[in-house]
Amino acid sequence: MSHNSFGHLFRVTTWGESHGPALGCVVDGCPPRIPLTETDIQPWLDRRRPGQSKFTTQRQEPDAVRILSGVFEGLTTGTPIALHIDNVDQRSKDYGDIAEKFRPGHADLTYDLKYGIRDYRGGGRSSARETAARVAAGAVARKILGDVKIRGALVQLGPHRIDRDRWDWKAVAENPLFCPDPSAVEAWEAYLADIRKRGSSCGAVIEIVADGVPPGLGAPIYAKLDADLAGALMGINAVKGVEIGEGFAAAALTGEDNADEMHMRDGVVAFGTNHAGGILGGISTGQPVVARFAVKPTSSILTPRASVDRQGHEVEVSTKGRHDPCVGIRAVPVGEAMVACVLADHLLRHRAQNPDAPTQARIPRN
Ligand SMILES: Cc1cc2nc3c(=O)[nH]c(=O)nc-3n(C[C@H](O)[C@H](O)[C@H](O)COP(=O)(O)O)c2cc1C
Repeated sequence: MSHNSFGHLFRVTTWGESHGPALGCVVDGCPPRIPLTETDIQPWLDRRRPGQSKFTTQRQEPDAVRILSGVFEGLTTGTPIALHIDNVDQRSKDYGDIAEKFRPGHADLTYDLKYGIRDYRGGGRSSARETAARVAAGAVARKILGDVKIRGALVQLGPHRIDRDRWDWKAVAENPLFCPDPSAVEAWEAYLADIRKRGSSCGAVIEIVADGVPPGLGAPIYAKLDADLAGALMGINAVKGVEIGEGFAAAALTGEDNADEMHMRDGVVAFGTNHAGGILGGISTGQPVVARFAVKPTSSILTPRASVDRQGHEVEVSTKGRHDPCVGIRAVPVGEAMVACVLADHLLRHRAQNPDAPTQARIPRN
């Protein structure tokens, strides 16, 4: 009943707290004989790592991953893969102040209400330090997915949206904001610098696109691919909304506009558009799988906010410690990792039930 695991055949259990000695995960169910070393995992962790730009927390964590089990001579063995990441830059004294106070927007109150005890240092288990373990697990999932390409980008920062006509995947790797619209970056950086100066914070919207997903992943009725993606993305800290494909905007379209028309091209089903986000009836169509999630503004801000303490007094809380002005930026690699884990799990489940499944959207003939 403790719910620190997700997935069925590709099952991830994470462990650890923000200010404990280390954190990590156990990945169970990875098929055997897949080449895997630390160098397959580290680059993904480096993209999430704090302290890399002035727009993310200055906590300096190398996030160096160690494979403790499940790999022999560079190949997975089919046994549980334990991944370990040391915490090296904890400053627990920054958090002494909140041992008794509940920070607005954080899990302090609810952990106390539920468990009657909490590791308040850096938010303990509720801290997004835990998402490093998810990114490590996502790297293993990507190895199972082979040619499936999972990429994420920040499409909205605070109130500022990208111009989708300028979308350039190359640009995402070339700026610290994971922004796919190069013309937006300068204005976004100025906006963030101002937000930080004012002791405030802002939210963001992240889009994840998975190209090369074979048709057939996902299972009706209670294991729909879109439902599992939504659950996985909603499970990331600070996420307050998830959309698949057209998402909430579909409500304003007509049936004609929202229809993804189908044609035959070289014996394969070809879609004219992808309003569905690559999923119909909970099952992947073979089109790109598109998911979007909204991240709330960072709760820890310098500006004082009203709250209460464990003794029931009204108090004010303002943040010391080190925090991201927009946690949505570092949520990009985390979103990619969660999508990778869900897709890898569904790929294994699909193959288990349907070993001869086609890899393209070919219409089965009797
Ligand atoms: C990558 C990442 C980093 C985060 N860093 C911070 C942070 O520095 N300060 C903060 O207030 N919240 C941060 N958060 C969000 C909190 O962990 C989260 O809001 C809090 O645990 C309460 O959970 P909830 O917002 O999901 O309800 C971060 C979230 C993510 C995804």
